[in-house]
Amino acid sequence: MKKLRVGVVGLGHRGRHMFLLAGDKFEFVVPAAACDLFPHNFYEQQWRCDRSIAEAYPDCVFYENYDEMLEKAALDIVIVETGADVHADFIIKALEKNINVLTDIPVVANLDEADRLWKAAQKSKAMVSVGANPNEQKFTVMLREFYKSGELGKPYYMEAEYIHWSLPRSEEKIKLNENGDWRKLLCPIRYCTHSLGPLLTVLSEDLRRVSCMGTGQHGPREEYDPRVIKDDMSCAQFQTESGVVVRLLRNGRCRAKIGHHNYRVFGTEGYMERIERFEKPVIRYNSQKSDGELHEVGGEFMPPAYAGNPDAIGHGGMDYAMMDKFLRAVQNGDPAPISLREGLAMTLPGIYAEESSKRGGEVITMYYPWDKEWKTKI
Ligand SMILES: NC(=O)c1ccc[n+]([C@@H]2O[C@H](COP(=O)([O-])OP(=O)(O)OC[C@H]3O[C@@H](n4cnc5c(N)ncnc54)[C@H](O)[C@@H]3O)[C@@H](O)[C@H]2O)c1
Repeated sequence: MKKLRVGVVGLGHRGRHMFLLAGDKFEFVVPAAACDLFPHNFYEQQWRCDRSIAEAYPDCVFYENYDEMLEKAALDIVIVETGADVHADFIIKALEKNINVLTDIPVVANLDEADRLWKAAQKSKAMVSVGANPNEQKFTVMLREFYKSGELGKPYYMEAEYIHWSLPRSEEKIKLNENGDWRKLLCPIRYCTHSLGPLLTVLSEDLRRVSCMGTGQHGPREEYDPRVIKDDMSCAQFQTESGVVVRLLRNGRCRAKIGHHNYRVFGTEGYMERIERFEKPVIRYNSQKSDGELHEVGGEFMPPAYAGNPDAIGHGGMDYAMMDKFLRAVQNGDPAPISLREGLAMTLPGIYAEESSKRGGEVITMYYPWDKEWKTKI
């Protein structure tokens, strides 16, 4: 099997985890290069790691400059793990050098980036795949099968919520912001990809309209970063051209310690939900095409095809599944497992939703780089 030289940019906790996953679990991966603004993230052991990257991979070369890494490291793949609002230019530069990319999500921070990235991807000989790990989870796999078998019918209403419990000065929160500010600054409705990604896999059209409203801030002033106004809760309603409604609830400040990722999908023939409460996630479904009864199975993240694989680690096995599919696609010259188009279709609605919220819930029509009406101004 051809060896693949892999580099990573961004050695926050996510970048370290993904790089170690690639280097430790896939024998054909050569962990060749790593880049960060802060050398200690490479040379010293960091949070959630049992060793430093330098110790794990003595032949891996560290770069403080991304352009230099791309120039010198002869990479087949770059994993982009910079903060959630700074991915596009790293992806574009790699694509311009025909280096394959696995990028974390959201893919872009604004419409101009979407435009430039879309054009760069069309020109490049390399492939960009989107690191939307929730698209690999058991719920998404079951939902797609339920849809393909006809048991769901045509979905006409869907909803998702991603509620992240937060305490202002918790150890976890301080560590999560160890290197960058994106968690403090990004408007939560923009972090919509974990929620919309799985739902979009059973829609044959893009989300076209959005209205989003926020609650304002209800905590003591010292809990909020003065650089940005982030609502405690934001609720967006999207609609497709044919009329399918999708509701998304996201939070900034939150005191509900209940469970993160919830989804409900209503179809003309059946229903499926993943409800996560108090660390006991369940998936339930019923269909008129079968016995009509409500069935319940465990809602753990582990994709069924990887259950029992001891290497399948990271967010309950989703990270391994995503990495495995991506690396094998590069090996075989196959298309991206999660395409840039899918990545933009789950990212841009958050950008439009934030703008709608700023305009007090005004309904905004959303376009994408593949639409003839596409423009980079909202
Ligand atoms: N899919 C998931 O389950 C999941 C979970 C957590 C985070 N994420 C994503 O992972 C990504 C990284 O998150 P994080 O929490 O590790 O972020 P972070 O801010 O802690 O780390 C980002 C790193 O990028 C580095 N960086 C920034 N600009 C750079 C530059 N010009 N050159 C080199 N390095 C640069 C920073 O120094 C920092 O170490 C984000 O996109 C986030 O959305 C995904």
